[in-house]
Amino acid sequence: MKKKLFIVANRLPITIEITEHQYTYRPSSGGLVSAITTYLSKNDKDDFTEKVWAGVPGCNEATWNSITPVSQTGDFKYLPVFTNAKKYELYYNGFSNSLLWPLFHYFPSFAEYRTTNFDAYISVNKLFAATLASQVTANDVVWIHDYHLLPLAAMLREMIPGLTIGLFLHIPFPAYEIFRVIPKHWQREILSGMMGADLIGFHTVEYASYFLSSVEMTMKAKCDGNIITWQNRKIKVESFPVSIDFELFNNASEREDIKLIQQNYLTLKGDNKMIFSVDRLDYTKGIQNRLRGFKKFLDKNPDYIGKVVFALIVVPSRDGIKKYAERKKEIDEFIANLNSTVGTLSWQPIIYQYNHLSFEELVALYTTCDLALITPLRDGMNLVAKEFVASRKDERSVLVLSEMAGAAKELTDALLINPNDISEIAAMIKQAIEMDTDEQAQRMQAMQTRIKQYDVVTWATDFFDQLQETKKLQVEFN
Ligand code: UDP
Ligand code: G6P
Repeated sequence: MKKKLFIVANRLPITIEITEHQYTYRPSSGGLVSAITTYLSKNDKDDFTEKVWAGVPGCNEATWNSITPVSQTGDFKYLPVFTNAKKYELYYNGFSNSLLWPLFHYFPSFAEYRTTNFDAYISVNKLFAATLASQVTANDVVWIHDYHLLPLAAMLREMIPGLTIGLFLHIPFPAYEIFRVIPKHWQREILSGMMGADLIGFHTVEYASYFLSSVEMTMKAKCDGNIITWQNRKIKVESFPVSIDFELFNNASEREDIKLIQQNYLTLKGDNKMIFSVDRLDYTKGIQNRLRGFKKFLDKNPDYIGKVVFALIVVPSRDGIKKYAERKKEIDEFIANLNSTVGTLSWQPIIYQYNHLSFEELVALYTTCDLALITPLRDGMNLVAKEFVASRKDERSVLVLSEMAGAAKELTDALLINPNDISEIAAMIKQAIEMDTDEQAQRMQAMQTRIKQYDVVTWATDFFDQLQETKKLQVEFN
């Protein structure tokens, strides 16, 4: 039977930027967009007759209609969801990014509890539901992504009861002791909203089990292992660690255009060892602790002064939120201070860029550095870690990775660090820089095997298989 797939996320995968005379498009940032666009571009073996991506386009309806963007690869269509700007601000900067994001990443002191934000959150979710309901039929499959749209599944279920709905959370789900600080009626709206889905996916077994305990404690719902019985339906909860296109990254270093860019970075690197990191400007990414760790490494190992450079790339993100803007200032000041006090006219410890990188630049940096230093205080997965490992066809270089990243559950052959332990970061930088090439290769091989086995297509296919299984379970139950 013919069916369409609807991917639903807050953002469309393109961001439209309006400059004085023209519109420019660039890919939207973040792991969600990377994973789903890669999956859509790679997989043509499924039985969907059409794929549609619904999300907010970042411009108004008149502008959208005047430019009518189409997906560059033609793998899917766009379904823009137009919202009122004021409401969007309260939903996005407010409830999503000033309550759910900090709380789910264990920053309860950053969380803001405002009824107006919650009301806007519900209202924008209703708008998504109405936009989708005008396009979706009961036979279609809807796959909802991330924390912006937690109440959406139940809203859609009410409109189209038999619809197949999957939900995937790209960020951690916190322990109940954190979740319960949310006002009770919001907790219920969030959890009952999520349980409108047939299958709810998380990156790790831990996030899935935390979700199940919140469901038991807050909703008093019956959970039998990973199956919830709720409102006469069976809902499955499962872990699916999101991944990347292994082959794309593994083969990229052989591309001539990337080799050319790499030459520039090799010149910049000179005889130095190079540390590399790239993340969105986000307090969860632990950029400041990373910088402190690097400074401590130089303080404790003065022999390395003039011999190691740190290429630090920070991608602008959510700068409408004060907590983000504050971080930018602090990072800028730390770097300026370190470069001016430890650096000389001929050597600067930190090479810093505050901007997006293209795929080609990113891979060129992955393959130039001697160590990738990834130190989030909390991260749902962290795709950069997997991309870096996959890029190293030469099996050289070392991954230093925070144990607070979902990726650490799979990449156990990284040098794992506690991102709050500055001395440990400093010690691991030294260990990584001095690691012999046999050990580098051994660790890289083990991590590459894991990523190759469970790539982004396996991730999505696994999710769809489980979604079908859950539907069967429901038929048996009824
Ligand atoms: N990325 C990119 N250009 C950049 C920086 C990052 O395309 O300048 C991509 C990167 O390749 C990765 C994603 O953005 O796929 C970041 O995902 P991750 O899970 O590491 O972090 P998130 O931003 O989702 O928290
Ligand atoms: C994380 C979130 C995504 C989000 C991305 C970029 O990966 O899980 O949902 O799209 O960050 O953040 P932004 O707020 O710019 O969409």
